[in-house]
Amino acid sequence: MPRTTPVPALAAPAVRVHDSLVLEPRDVRFDWARLPLHWVPDEPMATHILNVLHLLLPEGERWFVKVFKEALPLIRDEQLREEVLGFIGQEAIHAEAHQEVLDHLLGQGLDPRPYVRQVAWVFQRVLGDRPGLSPARQREALIERVAAIAAVEHFTAFLGNWILNSPGLDRAKADPTMLDLLRWHGAEEVEHRSVAFDLLVHLDPGYARRVRTMAMAGPLLAHLWVRGVRFLLAADPTLDGRLRPSWREAYRITKRGLLPDPVKSIRSGLRYLKPGYHPTQEGSSSQALGYLATSPAARAAAGR
Ligand SMILES: [Fe+2]
Ligand SMILES: [Fe+2]
Repeated sequence: MPRTTPVPALAAPAVRVHDSLVLEPRDVRFDWARLPLHWVPDEPMATHILNVLHLLLPEGERWFVKVFKEALPLIRDEQLREEVLGFIGQEAIHAEAHQEVLDHLLGQGLDPRPYVRQVAWVFQRVLGDRPGLSPARQREALIERVAAIAAVEHFTAFLGNWILNSPGLDRAKADPTMLDLLRWHGAEEVEHRSVAFDLLVHLDPGYARRVRTMAMAGPLLAHLWVRGVRFLLAADPTLDGRLRPSWREAYRITKRGLLPDPVKSIRSGLRYLKPGYHPTQEGSSSQALGYLATSPAARAAAGR
């Protein structure tokens, strides 16, 4: 079984690494045959709070890819265009990697499809195309979606940075293949954390849209997450509906280092609203690339 450990931040400044970055989609594969249903041992709630990622990301990241492909003709900067293409390649692989976990859950008797249908409705209907708009309003709607993605990407980078620095999960003996999936994905989120924000600023450097879309995306994400945890705990065939989500339990799990601190998560969301914010101020590209150099799945992909 592959072993993964958090990689300490290296000395090189993150901005310099980012500036010379070429985003490379890594064609990773994971074998889920031996993944236990509660892959954080004896911690079904922690497992399912993190499992919400698998419920949200396939639909969400496919939507990112669709929106960014639509935005390509608006880009007037060759370097940014290359980064957006790299971002599209990475997010497409992320979506499929998490989809495989959903398929595995179904095989273990936990049917995620009712919740995934709701998530698909949000991305395809609520946040999807509106036929019949004028070209100017279509462009406006597209930039609004790019801004919403930039806000969500702030949180994926926050979570990516956390998962790269989460020794509590190693101490709890979380499944090493799942840890590698989460850390490979988290590292790529840190690696490409500037792309959506830079695209947003390229299309609309104004501040109002950034605030408006974070005010929408932050609460929506929190709402979907809480709903997802409730759904998974109710649908888990081994729990029989006996385990209900509670803030007390979430607090205990956070103290054990199995989840990000919610106060830090909220503070991170507020940092996005600072006028001088840029994603390079969060996380470490050096650490992300350091993990990707040791990730069993990323190394196997590099050898193919
Ligand atoms: Fe992703
Ligand atoms: Fe991302």
